[in-house]
Amino acid sequence: MQRIALLTSGGDSPGMNACIRAVARKAIYHGLEVMGIKRGFNGFIEADMYPMNLGSVAGIIHRGGTILHTARSDHFMTPEGRAKANENVKRFGIQGLVVIGGDGSFRGASVFHQEYGLPVIGVPGTIDNDIAGTDQSIGFDTAVNTAVEAISKIRDTATSHERTFIIEVMGRHFGFIALAAGLAGGAESILVPECPFNYDEICERLMRGYKRGKLHSIIVVAEGVAGGIEVGRIIKERTGFDTKVTILGHLQRGGMPSAADLILASRMGARAVELLMAGSKKDMVGVKAGEIIAVDIDEALSQTKAIDTEMCNLAVSLSI
Ligand code: F6P
Repeated sequence: MQRIALLTSGGDSPGMNACIRAVARKAIYHGLEVMGIKRGFNGFIEADMYPMNLGSVAGIIHRGGTILHTARSDHFMTPEGRAKANENVKRFGIQGLVVIGGDGSFRGASVFHQEYGLPVIGVPGTIDNDIAGTDQSIGFDTAVNTAVEAISKIRDTATSHERTFIIEVMGRHFGFIALAAGLAGGAESILVPECPFNYDEICERLMRGYKRGKLHSIIVVAEGVAGGIEVGRIIKERTGFDTKVTILGHLQRGGMPSAADLILASRMGARAVELLMAGSKKDMVGVKAGEIIAVDIDEALSQTKAIDTEMCNLAVSLSI
């Protein structure tokens, strides 16, 4: 193997740059050439790529976002788009591809491998942490830290004004960010798509707290459950409490990555290169119980990541 390529795809996540750096440096360390593909699969199709050297990834480890830019490519989902990408594989002599992204990106990579045989390695980079086959994805830890910081700040003003706050966090169809941030932020209720809830119970808990002299309440809602505004409307209607809604939105995707994400990104990026060099055809890098592992991409994609029920129960029991 002489030349590999690398792209970031889907929603960006803090730590992607550290991973790009690790892939590029590890590859160069082993004497490989690396092409950096810009704007995800769109750049793959449009030949928007450049040779990377050690300097290309200097001074980026601590930066959020992705220097390669990213996109969700509809064109790559078509056979025509992938055929164009394959022309670039031949034109640039690419012998392996590292895709840093989420499940949609891995699906695209897997189909491309099936059609054209190019070895592909997926590195999970998404704040949602919704990829089976790995305990953690790059960016999740930072996003949770960002959300917890926001919750603490909101708690200050919630207490001063004796208000109930609904805080909507990202996570797409899953509640991993909500559960972790809600637990760490001491939320009174955490609503996640994986666990049923009812508004009567939530309101009763709020009322009980109020009777005990509680001055504020925080309810963390995963975006996959319902819009925070709708949840706020229902809670306000049923309790009569002064209720405000904050949607954290895209600020969860930015910022300097946590040390945990920087280390994870560096380890995963380096392993992706090792896997290509060892002849892997379509693996995803993961982390299990602290160890970096490789799983077949399709096997990971065929599973649904389960939420930690012990953590769910803990959150309930701590928020009486
Ligand atoms: O997958 C990452 C994510 O931030 C999700 O949490 C969210 O639902 C989605 O991307 C938002 O996508 P966009 O940036 O396209 O609005």
